[in-house]
Order: sequence, then C-alpha cells, then structure tokens
Amino acid sequence: MKISAENHPPSASCKTSTGKFTMENLFIGKNIIRLDRVDSTNNYAVGLIRGSRENPALKVFDGTIVSAKFQEQGKGQRGNSWESDAGKNLTFSIVLKPAFLPAGRQFLLNKIISLAILDFLKDCGIKQVAIKWPNDVLAEGKKIAGILIENIIQSNTIQYSVVGIGLNINQEKFTSTQAATSLKILSGKSYSLEENLLKLASFIEGRYLKLKNDLLSCENDYLNSLYRFNEWNKFNLKGTPANARISGVAEDGRLILQQENGIENHYDIKEVIFL
Ligand code: BTN
Repeated sequence: MKISAENHPPSASCKTSTGKFTMENLFIGKNIIRLDRVDSTNNYAVGLIRGSRENPALKVFDGTIVSAKFQEQGKGQRGNSWESDAGKNLTFSIVLKPAFLPAGRQFLLNKIISLAILDFLKDCGIKQVAIKWPNDVLAEGKKIAGILIENIIQSNTIQYSVVGIGLNINQEKFTSTQAATSLKILSGKSYSLEENLLKLASFIEGRYLKLKNDLLSCENDYLNSLYRFNEWNKFNLKGTPANARISGVAEDGRLILQQENGIENHYDIKEVIFL
C-alpha cells in the first residue's frame, strides 16, 4: 500500500451528493470512541493504553480517537483546566504510536499537530492564523485551539502519544481571561462537529505521514507560522521583563529568544510570558 504524505486530506474535498463530508483516512479516526461525558479524553485514552498493557487482548489501535461532548475536568497546559460548553466544540484525543520518533524529538508532534490545525482552519476560509508557542493556535489574534500531548516513553522511543485537542467550533461566548474565539464567531456559520472531526483528523494524518517520511519536513512551515517569530517584542523571562526576539525553537521544544545584547537563551513553558 502506498502511503500518502501530502499535507492536505486525501479526500477532504470529497463530498457526497447529500453534501456530507466523507473521508478515507488510512488510520487516524478509523476507530472512534464517542462519549457523552468524561473527566478528560486524555485521561480516558491513557486508561485504554494502561488496560492494553495489563491485558494485551484489549489492543488500542494506532489512530484511535476518543471524543467527548463534555469534559468534567478537561486539562490544559501548565496544570490549567480546559473549559468548553457541552456539545459546542471539538474536545478529543488521538492515540498514536510514533515508534519512529526518538524521545528527544517529541516536540515535533506538537509542531505537526499545530500545523494540521492551521491547515484545517485555512481550509475553512480563516485567513489570519498563527501558532503561539508552545501549544496555542490563534485565529485573528485570539485563541481558537489548544493542544495537550502526553507521551509514554520506553527505551528512548515514544511508545504511545496521547494527542489532546480542544478546538472551538460553535461556542459564541467565552469566560476565560485569555481572549478566545471560535469558527462560528469568525464566520457567522454553524458547523457539524462530526464532519469537522473527520476533516481535522485527515489533515493531522497528512502532516503525521509527512513527518514519518522526513523528520525535518515541518520546520519551515512551523517557523513561517510562528506568532512573533523574528519580531522584537516584550516578554517576561524568568520573572524579568525583557525586549527579545524569537529566533527559533530548540529540538527539545524550548523557545530560543535573543535579547538586545545578542545573547540567545532557551526557555521552557514556565519561564516565558508573552507581554
Ligand atoms: C491548552 O491550551 O492549555 C491545552 C488544551 C488542551 C485541551 C484538550 S480538550 C481534549 C483533551 N483532553 C483534555 O483534558 N485536554 C485536551
């Protein structure tokens, strides 16, 4: 079987005569577990993996999606919670088995998932989109999606990766302190969650297969889409305000910032605040 490594969905434009989106992904989303309520889809997926380790008969297929209408304890980065109105948005996790990826390169998954969300949003007609390091996707300057990836590492390779995605689709009001938006706010239209889950899964599969072919495939696209890349701006770095410029992202996922004295330093998520 030939594996497609395009960064567009193999059948994204394929619509049936009834207008329904159809998809022929190779593996991501072939198996979907749909839940009305759950604590967190990431926790549920990790539970499936643990269960399969204890009892190999309970195999978890590569590309399995766990999707929920409502999460009681949706998790965000930095120990934050992820709030999403019931039945309005996409909140799901994908189980991947990226055995081809050395543990030290795990941030590549974060990069291709962010890019796939951008591919999806552009395909929906949203023009001004960007990736805000490390895990936010912005549309017209406001957060539209967040990513939380939890990896299970064994012998220096990633045995399982649970890729959690929250993407705002039909919600119109947000209470979060960070400015948020949704597809509906941006376009004025309502969207089918089921069709758009499959469509996004298809973009993710395209980017994932491309990465598997060539670990460097996403680097240019990522930097070209990175919010504030190469621009002088104000940051809080380890508690101190500073003028700095993002000059790259290191292999371990830390942000590389250059200060006015020319010196570059690497920062992790807890050490940087965008001002
Ligand atoms: C962030 O922006 O802080 C990351 C948010 C990730 C939210 C998603 S929703 C589906 C999955 N399950 C979770 O508990 N979190 C992720």
